[in-house]
Formats: sequence, C-alpha cells, structure tokens
Amino acid sequence: QERRRWLENQHVALMPIDTAQLERADHLSENVFSTLTLPVGLIPDLVVNDSHFQVPMATEEPSVIAGANHGSRFLIKAGGSHAFSFRSGIWGQIVLKKGSSFNDVRFQKELVLLKHKTNQKFDHLVRHGGGVRKFFPRFAAQKINLRVLIDPSEAMGANLVNTILEFMADELSQSDLTESKSFAIVSNYPSQLTKVNAELPVSLFGKEAEGLKVAKDIEALSDLGCHDVYRAVTNNKGIMNGVDAVLMATGNDTRAVEASNAVLACHRGQYTSLSQWHVAKGILKGQLTLSLPLGIVGGSIEARPDVKQNLQLLSRNEDFSVRDLAQIIASVGLASNLAALHAIVNYGIQAGHMKLHARNLVAALSATEVEKEQVYHLLTAKRVYTATAAKDFLKKVRQGEKGNGHRH
Ligand code: MEV
Repeated sequence: QERRRWLENQHVALMPIDTAQLERADHLSENVFSTLTLPVGLIPDLVVNDSHFQVPMATEEPSVIAGANHGSRFLIKAGGSHAFSFRSGIWGQIVLKKGSSFNDVRFQKELVLLKHKTNQKFDHLVRHGGGVRKFFPRFAAQKINLRVLIDPSEAMGANLVNTILEFMADELSQSDLTESKSFAIVSNYPSQLTKVNAELPVSLFGKEAEGLKVAKDIEALSDLGCHDVYRAVTNNKGIMNGVDAVLMATGNDTRAVEASNAVLACHRGQYTSLSQWHVAKGILKGQLTLSLPLGIVGGSIEARPDVKQNLQLLSRNEDFSVRDLAQIIASVGLASNLAALHAIVNYGIQAGHMKLHARNLVAALSATEVEKEQVYHLLTAKRVYTATAAKDFLKKVRQGEKGNGHRH
C-alpha cells in the first residue's frame, strides 16, 4: 500500500486492487504494487499417446488458443499425437581453478566420491527419483570446467540445482587438486528433451488432389524454415505461441524454455525450424523436438491457487507426472504449428487473426454489449481492424440508433 501511495502521489493512475490480492502478490514477488491478469482459455480435447486432456492456456492473444484448438482437431482426426519425454536432468556448471598438484585421474576419482556424498546430502531428491547423474569435466591449462547433469525429478529444479552445485563447488574447492572455485550455476542448455510426432492423412485437408496440394504446400513451407532463418524463427514463434501459453497457465518458467529452445534450434550449426513436416504415401508427417525444463511441484506452484487449478484440470489421472505435462506441451506446440502452416498456405493468417483482433478492439470500447456486437460485425464485414475504425463505427451505430429513435 505504501508503494501504491508513493506512485499515486506522483499522479500515476493505479487500478483499484483488493487488499487480500495485493498481499498475496506481495508474498510471491518483489516490490509489488499491482497485479496483471490473463485470460485462461481451453483446449477441450487434446489427444496425446491415446489419452485425452483438457489443456489450460493463459494468453491475451485469442488466435493462439483458436490456432491450438484448430490444430488439435486435425490431430484428433489422425488419432492424436505421440510423444516421448527423455528426462535425464538439467545441466549445471562449476568452474574451478586447478591447484599446483592437479592430476586428472585423481580428480575423476574425487568426482565419484562427490557424487555419492552429494546424493546422500540431498537424499530427499533421491527419494523422489532424482539426484546427481553425471559429470563431464573438461580441463584447460588453468581451469576445470565441470558440467553436471542433475535430475530434479518432478520439479523444474533450477533453484535446487544451484544449491547442489554450490555444495559441490565448496567440497571440490577444499581438495588439494583445486585452488579455488570461480563459479557454480545452473545452465539453460537444452535438456529434458521431448519429441512429438503425428501422421495425418492428406484427405483431412481436402478432397483428393486438393488435400495432397495443401499437404505439399505445408511441406514446402516447412522446408523453407529448414534453411531460411527468417522463416525458421517465425515458424518457431508459432510453436512457442502454444507452448508459452501452457507454461504460463501451469506456472512454469517461460524464460528458461525460450532460452534453451533458441539453442536447440541451432543444433545443426545454423538456426533452423524446431519442427519438420513431410508428405509420403498420402500421409503428412510432422515432428517436433523441444527442450522442456518444467515442473509440476516446487517453485511458486504451492502458493498459486490459479496454477494449482490448472494443474488439477490437467492431472485428473492419478499418476500424472512432469513427463505427461512435457508431452502435452510439445503436442500443443505441434498443433499450433500445424494450424499456422495450414492457415498460411490456405487462406492466409490474417483472415482468422483479424476477426479475433476485432474482438479486442470492441472490448476496449465504452459501449453496451449490443453496440459492441454491431461494431464487431461492421469491422469484420468491412475488414478494417483499427481502434479508430472501431470508434468511428460506434459513432455510426449510435447515430443510427438516434435516427431510429426519431423515427419512432
Ligand atoms: C503468429 O503469432 C505466428 C505465425 O506467424 C507462425 C507462423 O508463421 O508459422 C502465424
């Protein structure tokens, strides 16, 4: 409240806020003065590995939810998508200065003991199926660059991994093999990879030659993204539209997922599409691999009833795990990508997008529901989608009403 008063004294117009809501937000974050709410939309039926899910998506952009639903309806007609999540852990880095008696064979032996000691210290993680998995040391003239793979189990794990890395760095820096530690920090390098694929009969896209043409056009657009970075980055943005919305709805770290997938998209030495689509024998095959460092426990999840609600919606089935969430998110990414490619090669992206944008324009008007509906129809009929046009149409609607009033 003090921060709000301070801003209001500077004539900042603040939205009114419920005290309890402000207090909850203050406990969650830093220097809080307000909150931001997002609509949560739904994919009512996403089929992944023969299971049905209702998927919450948090975004202000209606075309993101419409696109994911359009794509998932195509996927359902093809029996859904098939996904597999390889969850071996997330990366950490410890850099140490070598001591004068450094010996790499002895150092490797120390690592074996360290792994044991660390897993004993963090036994709660081991009990949940996680723990330190592997070390990958690299030795330079003066330094040791130690990469560590740590399985955070059902959590995203960045905080826990940092705690574990700092413990290990302190232990290692006490050895006579090292002089001092330089740093210990989680790495957002791609990890927790999830692969998803789907096979769609070309007949889903139109009758006979027409369906094949649409599928071939989707393939051609996908191929462009394999070697043209201007297309690749946009293709990947379309995937992230769906991915980020589910990450937001489930309280996951969009920044970590975005950063790691930017690197994954460069794994062939050049930035490329994260998805590929090919046609063969009347089937359009799509596949997508994503790095999905996610959690369904830990972080702020326990303190967020909005996120808990969304996770409960997803996890009706008792043994729901972070692996399921990763598979769902990758499938939403594939569905979003398919819908975008399908729209671009058929009727262009704007037709659907702008109709949805018109809804945002009318929502911003100070008008009755009936007036908003009339303005919406005028915007979409005339295909002009600007805030000025919305205001002009509102004036016209009101003048028309007055005119009608006079006649009566
Ligand atoms: C818009 O938010 C996303 C698209 O540009 C993605 C794509 O071009 O594939 C439609």
